[in-house]
Amino acid sequence: MSQLSTRHLLGIKDITADDIQLIFETADNFKEVLNRPIKKVPSLRDITIANIFFENSTRTRLSFELAEKRLSADVINFSSSNSSVKKGETLIDTVNNILSMKVDMVVMRHASPGAPHFLSKNIQANVVNAGDGTHEHPTQALLDAFSIREKLGDVAGKKVAIIGDILHSRVALSNIFCLQKLGAEVMVCGPITLLPKHIDSLGVKVEYDVQKALEWCDVANVLRIQLERQQIKYFPSLREYSLYFGINKKMLDRLDKKIVVMHPGPINRGVELNSDAADGEHSIILQQVENGVAIRMAVLYLLAGAK
Ligand code: CP
Repeated sequence: MSQLSTRHLLGIKDITADDIQLIFETADNFKEVLNRPIKKVPSLRDITIANIFFENSTRTRLSFELAEKRLSADVINFSSSNSSVKKGETLIDTVNNILSMKVDMVVMRHASPGAPHFLSKNIQANVVNAGDGTHEHPTQALLDAFSIREKLGDVAGKKVAIIGDILHSRVALSNIFCLQKLGAEVMVCGPITLLPKHIDSLGVKVEYDVQKALEWCDVANVLRIQLERQQIKYFPSLREYSLYFGINKKMLDRLDKKIVVMHPGPINRGVELNSDAADGEHSIILQQVENGVAIRMAVLYLLAGAK
């Protein structure tokens, strides 16, 4: 297989295991390019990409922009905070104005679940979802699974515990779909108030005791407490959350095996993850960020080919 089964990347739910393997194999090649003295290839020389971000981002925005520049695409960046969205312009008007500048691809982050899906039905350009509300964050899941494959040799058969605020997390849902498509076993762990009702219907194990989750897994993917999405209190205080669900080096050292610790970022240090665990020997957090560029290069390159 040399082409994706889709012309947009809206979610992991919509793509196949073969698509994911193709993205990984392509990312392997781009990772090799990124380690060369000259890190640029001409693959997307005639392509113009708009990064339109209606929500804050550091890693995803910079990683997409770098991936696009490494592929020699022309890049324009839009952030809603300093745009005419503030004057009441609609999403579709904003995007159509950007597209009239002859844009081939749109990378979009939006606070509303389904916004990239809506966009893909209304424009000709390829659409990549860079995170839509609490729904999906497909390139994050791809780079997470790619990092597990790199560290442990394969994703199939591995046990991955996703720990933290599952309820408000787009990373959790995309990870569940991606890991299961690749043959991993998935557990979710957190306070009962931060686990969606009926999450077990997705075929995941559910655990409320973080030490037991760590004992079960090969990989702990620790998620951020998303205070900006919490309109009510889901736990008494951050101190209590940290006491019962925070992960530190002592907990990792207590295990009779060495597990891998991941986090998509940004980290609330001292809340879901202590610095001695985030920066310690178990952590591959910065490798995740590094792999994000190769994965996004692969996604953009393959979508451009699917045109
Ligand atoms: N992991 C992630 O999506 O980070 P940003 O919000 O900084 O893009």
